[in-house]
Amino acid sequence: MSPEPSSSRLVSAVRVEDDAQFEAGLRPRTLDEYIGQDRIRENLQVAIAATRQRGEALDHVLLYGPPGLGKTTLAYVVANELGVPIRATAGPVLERPGDLAAILTNLREREVLFIDEIHRMAPAIEEILYPAMEDYQLDIVIGQGPSARSVKVPLQKFTLVGATTRTGLLTSPLRSRFGIVHRLDFYTDADLEEIVRRSARILHVEIDDAAAAEIAGRSRGTPRVGNRLLRRVRDYAQVRAEGQITIPVALAALKLLEVDEHGFDEVDRRLLRIIIDKFGGGPVGINTIAAAISEEKDAIEDIYEPFLIQIGFLDRTPRGRVATPRAYEFFGLTAPARSSTLW
Ligand SMILES: Nc1ncnc2c1ncn2[C@@H]1O[C@H](COP(=O)(O)OP(=O)(O)O)[C@@H](O)[C@H]1O
Ligand SMILES: [Mg+2]
Repeated sequence: MSPEPSSSRLVSAVRVEDDAQFEAGLRPRTLDEYIGQDRIRENLQVAIAATRQRGEALDHVLLYGPPGLGKTTLAYVVANELGVPIRATAGPVLERPGDLAAILTNLREREVLFIDEIHRMAPAIEEILYPAMEDYQLDIVIGQGPSARSVKVPLQKFTLVGATTRTGLLTSPLRSRFGIVHRLDFYTDADLEEIVRRSARILHVEIDDAAAAEIAGRSRGTPRVGNRLLRRVRDYAQVRAEGQITIPVALAALKLLEVDEHGFDEVDRRLLRIIIDKFGGGPVGINTIAAAISEEKDAIEDIYEPFLIQIGFLDRTPRGRVATPRAYEFFGLTAPARSSTLW
């Protein structure tokens, strides 16, 4: 049997169909409602207030980090705080240079253009962005051959908000044109607990603090996962426990859902076991791991690895990935003796 695609798993950070109809309602709309990421919030608060006072467009903003941490949400919050409309598109959606040119020429002063998965833009389209971001103009070539000439079309001063999973995926000319660059981190358990309680309020379900903490602790530092677990636990509470999410209800539901104490899924476990069982704990290269567990290298680097590194189960060394003693402990194994330089 082939493994389920990772996006369909309960604790996947990747957005699935079922999330879409709930996420709109659960999204914070203002910086005050946006929980956690304090440093980013404070920086944006200052930058937004200053540009509003000056009546200017906000500098271009690049948000990066693993899926489900609130990049799209933050893009909408920024536009809302600026008091301007937002126009949203995504790298893979822009097929021809004309698509982007049309969007850009339609933007009005200080409006926000949000480009999700900005690393997936075709090079020819990306080049249109350079003069647009830097000088608020389009450089359009008309005609071909010797009679070709370039025309400059002025644009309104706008703000580009780009989102990507890793800045390393961006070309340096594009990256360097963002004045404000922020990396979103995994959320603390306390922040996630607040997010779960907030979402429960919006979904009109009663939850006690211990149950919110339990769900938060299994959410892989990721609001999207927390919200999804909450919805599944709510189902359980409704059918088996008169609708209230108490700690026994949460524990029983999470057990039935097979979500363990770290919110690990099958891929996390396989990834760690392969490194431990087949490669003596590492170091082993990312391509080798990808081949061994039949997952995309990108998915490993964007989705699985960051969380495992964050909780101290995996290390990235110059010679490859290493399973830490903690990972061994998790599986009830003893880590091999190693030269301390690896850790
Ligand atoms: N800081 C936050 N506070 C409250 N909820 C959040 C926060 N960040 C994300 N969420 C919730 O998580 C969901 C996923 O966020 P999203 O912005 O779509 O993530 P990304 O674009 O990084 O994949 C949103 O629907 C939102 O409800
Ligand atoms: Mg998004």
